[in-house]
Formats: sequence, structure tokens, C-alpha cells
Amino acid sequence: KSTKPFDLVLFGATGDLAMSKLLPALYRRDRAGQLPADGRIIATARTRLDRDAFIARVTAAFDEYLEADERTNDDWQRFVERLDFVSIDADTSGGFEDLARLVSGREDHTRVFYLAVAPNYFVEICEHLHAHGLVTDRARVVLEKPLGHDLASARSISEQIGAIFSEDAIYRIDHYLGKETVQNLIALRFGNMLFEPLWRRDWVRDVQISVSEQLGVSGRAGFYDRTGALRDMVQNHLLQLLCIIAMEPPTDIGADAVRDEKLKVLRALKRLEGQDALRNTVRGQYRAGAIAGQPVSGYLDEEGVPPDSRTETFVALRTEVANWRWAGVPFYLRTGKRLQERAAEIVVNFRDVPHSIFGVTYGAGQPNRLVIKLQPDEGVRMHMMAKSPGDRMQLRPVSLNLDFAEAFRQRPPDAYERLLMDVLRGRLTLFMRRDELYAAWSWIEPILDAWNEAGDAPKAYTAGTWGPAASSALLAREDANWHEET
Ligand code: BG6
Repeated sequence: KSTKPFDLVLFGATGDLAMSKLLPALYRRDRAGQLPADGRIIATARTRLDRDAFIARVTAAFDEYLEADERTNDDWQRFVERLDFVSIDADTSGGFEDLARLVSGREDHTRVFYLAVAPNYFVEICEHLHAHGLVTDRARVVLEKPLGHDLASARSISEQIGAIFSEDAIYRIDHYLGKETVQNLIALRFGNMLFEPLWRRDWVRDVQISVSEQLGVSGRAGFYDRTGALRDMVQNHLLQLLCIIAMEPPTDIGADAVRDEKLKVLRALKRLEGQDALRNTVRGQYRAGAIAGQPVSGYLDEEGVPPDSRTETFVALRTEVANWRWAGVPFYLRTGKRLQERAAEIVVNFRDVPHSIFGVTYGAGQPNRLVIKLQPDEGVRMHMMAKSPGDRMQLRPVSLNLDFAEAFRQRPPDAYERLLMDVLRGRLTLFMRRDELYAAWSWIEPILDAWNEAGDAPKAYTAGTWGPAASSALLAREDANWHEET
């Protein structure tokens, strides 16, 4: 189903995110027939370019980021006709009049301002938009992370933008929520009878959320060194995943029903402060090593990183969700750069059987384990015990595998395809609400404070491994281990 006519104004249009993700995502939805004929994309950037030069850049980006068979001439022509370009300099306010001219007379169209720029420009841009009368009743603003550096800055940005746009016109993107398997997790939990009764402390031993990357920080050391893994990944993506796993069934899939439940989880998270924070978190920083057989340099040798940097490129932590459903169940979170594999997964480990009728000689049983794989190779895997063929009662672990690409015979759409369409259609369910953002920062801050007070350096780990040994030790304390280590 196509959407209503729109003007999508894309700030930061020559940047990496726009070229590698946003424009390809819009092109794909256009190809799928989901954009209305009267839907325009007005690209803006500080760079002085004319429309042709901008289109040349998009052409080059599409050669790189789209599959050859996605680029048919007709589709490309139709897409290019939607594109316009205006140079805008938020510092001098130059260019906003040009933008105003381009959209004038189209006040009854959906108007989206997508800010794919550094957050220190968010407020300035919104104020210029407001001053130029561009913020209509139908205007929405999309904000990319990082939404602040701490609670105070997140509040300040939100309050200033909140003075210009109402809360239901603000779309805070967390692209993890747009990932197909994350939505499948909602389907799995609430579209089946099977899991929900078991989804609680009585049956679940622990939950693991792990997002490992092979990439380092090359090209963005300036940003990363000020940020670190806790702010870059845990504050947003991992906590959002945790909310989807742990939340109570919402009454419906509407924005506030879901966000109310997620907020309750954030508020129930056991706070990690002082010594407790140090005991339940592990910070790491990569040293030189090898990724897929190729040597890579250490974090401190990356261009732009100060030689004495204490920024963490790895975090593992243990927390709990202090409510009736989850009290006492460990939630282990882990993320890092330059790890052995690129993988994002959620693992639910169930408790052991209360008594084995088979005895040791017939093979020890292993507890059931549900693995939800977000990327790559999206799917769900249920590990269980079965009898191995033969004339004896010998048990063996086996797994039921659901591979989404195979089951649905189609490429799972990129997160941004879904999220951009949701913005155009006015659906807020997969976007963070202001109170969620504050709750997430309030939980993160005491950990940052404890680290600062401790003042020690993060633990070194070799690039291409699974992080510092302390990360395994964190789980070993409770006789648990990370999924890939079993
Ligand atoms: C971004 C972080 O939000 O997410 C990056 O800033 C990280 O550091 C990226 O690499 C990971 O996203 P994905 O979709 O590749 O898992």
C-alpha cells in the first residue's frame, strides 16, 4: 500500500548513512511500489553541489550498495525524478529560504525532516526550520543517535526540540528496532502460545544479548573515542532488545501500548552503582590481532585515537529486571568491536530438567536453549535433547532451525526500509519515546560514574577474540557461559 504524498527533507544527504542506507532504502521501497507518485526527496547538505552533481554521487553510492539486479533503468529514472538538492548551512542559516520555496504550497503534504547529522546541529536546524515557517501541522522530525552524551544533554536536546515539535511528531531512530528479527521476536512471543508461559523466572535460567562486530573504528575515531561502547551500543540498541525480550504483553501493537511496557522494563532494571557496577561490568579495549586471518592494528594505534585513551571498545555486564516475572534471572549483555565474528543474537537459556531418568551412562542432558539470531543469517534455533538412533537410550543435543530467508523465500528488508516507511505512515511503535530515552540514560550514568571514579584502564583483549577473559569469568561466577563458548 502506498503512502500519502510527502516531502522528505534529508539533512546530511552526502554523508555515509544517507548514501549507504537511507537513499538505498527509499529506492527499494519505491521499487516495491510503496512510494506515492507525489513523494519528493529533498536532499540537503552543507557541501555546495548542484542537483546533477548530487545525483552523480547517488549513482556511485548505488553502484556500491545495491545489488546489480536491483538497478533497473525504469526504477532508477522514477527515483531520480523524486530527488532535489539544496545546499544548507545550519551555522549561517543560508539555504533555508531555498528550502522554503521548494516546499511552499505543499503544506497539506506529509513533511519529514530527517536529521542524519551530528547531534550538535539538531537544535539549530529545528530552530531554523521553525523560524522559516517550515514546521507545519503535518511535519515530523527524525533524529539519529547519539541522542545526547548523558542524561543532561539528552534532556536539553529533547526539551529544545520539544518546544518546536510535539512528542508524537518526533521519531527517535534506533535502527535495531527496525531489524526484521527484532520484530519477529515480538511475533514469536505474542503470536504463539508456546513460549509465553515459559518466559519467566520459573523456567528461564539466564538471558544473553550479544552484539559482536568485526569492524574497528577506522574513520570515526573522533566520535568513537568520546563515546565508547556503553554509550554507542548498550544505552540504545542492547537496552532496546532487552526491553522487547522482558516486557509484559502490551494490549496492542500501538505505539504507546508498546512503549509503556518497554519503559516499565527500563525502570525495573537493577541499577549498577559504585562497587556493584565495577563487579558486574567488564570494560575492554582491543589490541593488535587478526580478523579473518588479516592482521589489524590495536585501538590505540587507530588514526585519531589519543595514545593514552581509556575508551572502551568492549562491554560485558550483568543486570537483572527487578519485577515479579524476572527477579533473580541474570541478563548478560555484551558488545564489542574487533571480535571474532559478526553476530547479534539473543539467547534464552532454560533451566535444567529437575531429575534425569536416564542416568549418567546414557549421556548427560543439556538444558534447552532458544537462540534468536538477528544477524547475519536471521533465524531462530531451539536446542533440545533427542534420542540418538540405535538400540540404546542415548541422548544427544539437536536443534530445530528456522531460517527466515528460507522460510519466506525473500531477502529480509534492511532496518531503514521499515523505519522510513513507518515515519511516512506516521507509526511510532518502533521509535523511542522521550521518557524511555531518559530512563535509559539514568541507568547508564552510574556505570559511567563508577568507571570514572575507579580511573583504571579497560582490560586489553586481542583483536579477533571474544574479548577479555574477565567477560567469561563474569558468567562463570554463576556457572554460566556465553553461547559460543559452549
Ligand atoms: C551503530 C553504532 O549505532 O550501530 C556503530 O554507532 C555500530 O558503532 C552499528 O557499528 C552496528 O549496527 P549494525 O546494524 O551493523 O549491527
